[in-house]
Amino acid sequence: AIDSNFDQNRERAGEENGVAVWGPVDPPEKLGIHGTHVAVDYDICLADGACLENCPVDVFTWVDTPDHPVSEQKVEPTNEDQCIDCMLCVDICPVDAIDVDAS
Ligand code: SF4
Ligand code: F3S
Repeated sequence: AIDSNFDQNRERAGEENGVAVWGPVDPPEKLGIHGTHVAVDYDICLADGACLENCPVDVFTWVDTPDHPVSEQKVEPTNEDQCIDCMLCVDICPVDAIDVDAS
């Protein structure tokens, strides 16, 4: 599962599609955690899609991650500033790849 303390345990490695990326990053195998308020561990996400399909405010968009060992698509929390903290995505992800900081 995603480390909910990633912002303390990881270094900020940059930005992609307008969201922060938390390292380590070593593409194509290691892609880090994307997002801060809504965070997706790209090395755990297997492109199930339930988060994207069910988010009431369309926070997520698909991005291609060719040659990543787990899946060749991931969800970017592009609109994380729109999140209403409903926690649906956190509960629905089959591999616990998402953390939402609702505090
Ligand atoms: Fe969308 Fe709710 Fe997840 Fe926020 S917590 S990203 S509103 S599903
Ligand atoms: Fe990935 Fe989980 Fe969403 S596997 S696509 S973060 S439901």
